[in-house]
Amino acid sequence: MSPRGEVLTVTSLTKRFGKVSAVLDLSFAVQPGRVTGFLGPNGSGKTTTLRCLLGLVQPTSGTAQVGGHDYRELPHPAAVVGATLEASGFHPGRTARGHLRVITDAAALPQARADEVLELVGLTEAAGRKVGGFSLGMRQRLALAAALVGDPGVLILDEPANGLDPEGIAWLRSFLRARAEEGRTVLVSSHVLSEVQQTVDDVIIISKGRLVQAGSLEELTGAGLTQVRVRTPQLEVLRAALLAEAGSGGVHVEVVSPVELMVSGLEAAEIGHLALRQQVELHELTPVGTDLEALFLELTADGNPGGAA
Ligand SMILES: Nc1ncnc2c1ncn2[C@@H]1O[C@H](COP(=O)(O)OP(=O)(O)OP(=O)(O)O)[C@@H](O)[C@H]1O
Ligand SMILES: [Mg+2]
Repeated sequence: MSPRGEVLTVTSLTKRFGKVSAVLDLSFAVQPGRVTGFLGPNGSGKTTTLRCLLGLVQPTSGTAQVGGHDYRELPHPAAVVGATLEASGFHPGRTARGHLRVITDAAALPQARADEVLELVGLTEAAGRKVGGFSLGMRQRLALAAALVGDPGVLILDEPANGLDPEGIAWLRSFLRARAEEGRTVLVSSHVLSEVQQTVDDVIIISKGRLVQAGSLEELTGAGLTQVRVRTPQLEVLRAALLAEAGSGGVHVEVVSPVELMVSGLEAAEIGHLALRQQVELHELTPVGTDLEALFLELTADGNPGGAA
């Protein structure tokens, strides 16, 4: 049986480094059984928040807890939380297996566990190689293996997709999905939404240390999955017809210019049909889909790295 995932709760968390507010009054919760993306531009406070959750940084105020406890209060932390921060801190002269055995020994776990986790991350063939010669992607996998040693119910991974090739990203995606389906809590940070958009169920987006958005990925994309650009000289007539149609909910109409609308929640064919019924002349009807990366940039705009407050 897999270990139980715990809820992660960040409550009014603030962390200042001198004059820099790395994290500012941040609150969110992360649920077990789901993969949650923790997203924000460079310098927005992701790593600092994760370090608070892991008891590596003392919050200026507020709390960051695992299953209702500070990390440092957990009786067997390695069995509860596995984490990767920056994929560094490897002794270059050690082999992958040697590195993991240091960890199994420290956690009083059988050394055979080292080979088990190497197998889990697809590094079996490199087990005897020196870590100093590892590629960035291999280091990421090794860091993940180290996080898995105690078979924890919570995984906190800082930019785990960084340095992975497309095959590695696909592998990571299915790996994290499987861990969430076992009931574990999986929190994954990234500064690129498109990198994790196929991986995550929920998103927490921060900018300059503050919360911008928290919820399911579906809520984020909303009805926007079928955004359609419509150009017409009879904008008001069409807009009124679309809004009447929107009575059923889920339809959003944005006026871009006197002759252009962006419509979400309706297929291009439905809009064309509506236009025909209203005898509205169309000059363009183009499905553009949701540009999640553009949405992300918009949400986190005005986000110069290093939010001084
Ligand atoms: N130990 C520290 N001392 C001083 N400032 C720090 C420290 N750690 C982080 N900061 C500052 O806090 C802010 C947030 O940094 P953090 O590393 O949490 O961002 P991040 O979202 O993880 O960025 P990235 O995407 O680049 O990893 C930055 O302005 C950073 O310079
Ligand atoms: Mg970081």
